[in-house]
Amino acid sequence: MTDYRKLIESHRVIICCGTGGVGKTTTSAATAVAAAQAGKRAVVVTIDPAKRLADALGIAALDNTPRLIDGPWSGSLSAVMLDTKSTFDEVVRRHAHDEAQAERIIGNRFYRNVSGTLSGTQDYMAVEKLNELHDSGHYDLVVVDTPPTRDALAFLEAPKMLSRLLDNPIYRIVTAPGRGPFKVINTAAQQVLRQLARVVGATVVDEAVAFFQAFEGMEEGFRDRANATIELLGDERTAFVLVASPRADTIDEARYFLRRLHCADLNASAVVVNRMLPQLSTTPKRATELAVSLAGSAAGGAAQALADLTATSAGDDLRIAELQNAAPDALTARVPMLHDDVHDIDSLAKIARLLTD
Ligand SMILES: Nc1ncnc2c1ncn2[C@@H]1O[C@H](COP(=O)(O)OP(=O)(O)O)[C@@H](O)[C@H]1O
Ligand SMILES: [Mg+2]
Repeated sequence: MTDYRKLIESHRVIICCGTGGVGKTTTSAATAVAAAQAGKRAVVVTIDPAKRLADALGIAALDNTPRLIDGPWSGSLSAVMLDTKSTFDEVVRRHAHDEAQAERIIGNRFYRNVSGTLSGTQDYMAVEKLNELHDSGHYDLVVVDTPPTRDALAFLEAPKMLSRLLDNPIYRIVTAPGRGPFKVINTAAQQVLRQLARVVGATVVDEAVAFFQAFEGMEEGFRDRANATIELLGDERTAFVLVASPRADTIDEARYFLRRLHCADLNASAVVVNRMLPQLSTTPKRATELAVSLAGSAAGGAAQALADLTATSAGDDLRIAELQNAAPDALTARVPMLHDDVHDIDSLAKIARLLTD
């Protein structure tokens, strides 16, 4: 059994991380395909897949619930496209005491703004979705595609997003101790709110106050959930797969990523180097000699192109070796650049084969 196959066999959660554009979504989907082919019940949470891939996965219509996808596998494959807003609503519904509280929050304008725009929300909801699918018991493996955030590991911080939200001064005013549950806001606090209203507008403050009042009593549930999520990220059956391309800039990002993972006491179990150039049966030296000897002839251009490609490929190999040094315990899987975009089940299955063979 190859190492990547073993990785799939022995984990319940695989989180694909890396900078945008390297093939994270593709690798996530292909990993789930490989798991389904190995007989597992796999689900992949994708984020912003290319339209044609979403079509192929049957999730083109924005939908937050897993869809079963037919294909040549003995297990099952489901896919869900993360919808941040509906996931947030689901979380609110889960923690609310009753339907009325949930509706009060979900209908609140401040909430609607926050749930869509607060930085880290998408990351938070990605890990939340992961938690939900993992807990459902319906799947042997949950594969998560992480959002293309600028901050490499925003999703690790994601469970803490709530604390940031609850650091909001309005929340502290509304929930300050000694005044009982949100009924009366004392005069001093009212003055602060009035001043705030002068800056941001009374409606905004009213909505924010209403939101935090409605939120009252739910923080604990949220916090417990955040802690459970942090635990799941650190579980020994959770693996991080770092996706990179062999180009210099993404290798640098990947190394930064490894350091950040390390700081969080986590390790990458695998590094997937995507879009490798084809293996060439020559060395840079020989290809250059050939280019020199054929210069000016009809084959001169082709020989020079081969020499350039060989040099690029050798540079790629060096950088990959550096990356391997930075993550000595991680297995390396190389995936060549395919001729076409990966946008259907067949090409995903092909990537799955390349990862696991
Ligand atoms: N090995 C590959 N060969 C050819 N095209 C690829 C390969 N991996 C990814 N792609 C294509 O590159 C584009 C970006 O890949 P994607 O997985 O969406 O990247 P990310 O999620 O990291 O932004 C997509 O159009 C995808 O089909
Ligand atoms: Mg993507």
